[in-house]
Amino acid sequence: MRYIHTFVEGLDSKLGKGIPSGSFLLISGSAGSMKSTLASYIGYRNIVTQNGNLLYLTLQESKDSLLRQMKSMNIDPSQLPENSKFVIKERKEIISNFPTTIEDFSEKIKSLEKEMGGIDIVVIDSLNALYFLLTIEKPDTKMFSLFERLRDMNSTVLLISEIPMNSNRFGVIDDVESYIVDGIIHLNMERIGRTLGRYISIIKMRWVKHSTDYFPLLVDDKGFRIVSH
Ligand SMILES: Nc1ncnc2c1ncn2[C@@H]1O[C@H](COP(=O)(O)OP(=O)(O)OP(=O)(O)O)[C@@H](O)[C@H]1O
Ligand SMILES: [Mg+2]
Repeated sequence: MRYIHTFVEGLDSKLGKGIPSGSFLLISGSAGSMKSTLASYIGYRNIVTQNGNLLYLTLQESKDSLLRQMKSMNIDPSQLPENSKFVIKERKEIISNFPTTIEDFSEKIKSLEKEMGGIDIVVIDSLNALYFLLTIEKPDTKMFSLFERLRDMNSTVLLISEIPMNSNRFGVIDDVESYIVDGIIHLNMERIGRTLGRYISIIKMRWVKHSTDYFPLLVDDKGFRIVSH
C-alpha cells in the first residue's frame, strides 16, 4: 500500500493522493464519537480495495461488541479478498497479566506480525487503555520507546485517543502524542440547540496538502460522508 484513504465520502478528495502508508495517525474524539467505527472502517476499506493485512487491538471493548458495531456498518471481516487478513485481538489475548511492560507488548505485536505474514495497518484502541495497562513511570519517555518500536514495523498505525468533547488537545499525555504522530483526525460532537451533531476535521497530516475545515459528518450503514461546500 502506498497510500491510505479514509473512504469518508468527500474527504479523500481533500487529501491529495491520500495519506502516505507507514504514517502514524491519531484518531481523537470524545466518548461515542465513532472512533472505533471509523478506525475499523478505514482499515477494512483499505484492505478490501488494495489487499493487505489489518490487525485491530481492542483493549477496552470486547471483540464481540466491536464486531457487532462493525456489522451495523456492513464491515464484515469474513468478506475479504483472498490474500487479505483482518485479525482482531482483545485485551486478554494481548495482555493477560497487567500491568505489563512496553517490551512485552511490543514483542506480542511482533509475533502477531510474524504469524500474519506482515501487517499493513494496525489499530490500537485505545492509547488511554494501553497506558493504563502498561507499567509507566515516566509516561513521555516510555511513549517514545513504544512509538520507536512500532515504527520499525513499517505499518500504518491508527492510534485511538479518547479526549473530552470540544477539547483542543488530541493526545492523552500532555498532548505529547500530537507532536509525534504524522496526522490527527479529530472527531467531535457538538450540541446545537437540542441536537448533538457529529463533526470531523483533519488537524494535521504531514506531507499532505489538506483542508483544516470542520465538516459535519454523516453516517449510515453504507459508510461515512462529510457535508462540504
Ligand atoms: N449504523 C450506525 N449509523 C449511525 N450511527 C451509529 C451506527 N452504529 C452506531 N452508531 C453510533 O456510534 C456510536 C458508537 O460508535 P463507536 O463505538 O465507534 O464510538 P467510540 O468513539 O469508539 O466510543 P467509545 O468512547 O465507547 O470507545 C454509538 O453511540 C451510536 O451513536
Ligand atoms: Mg471505541
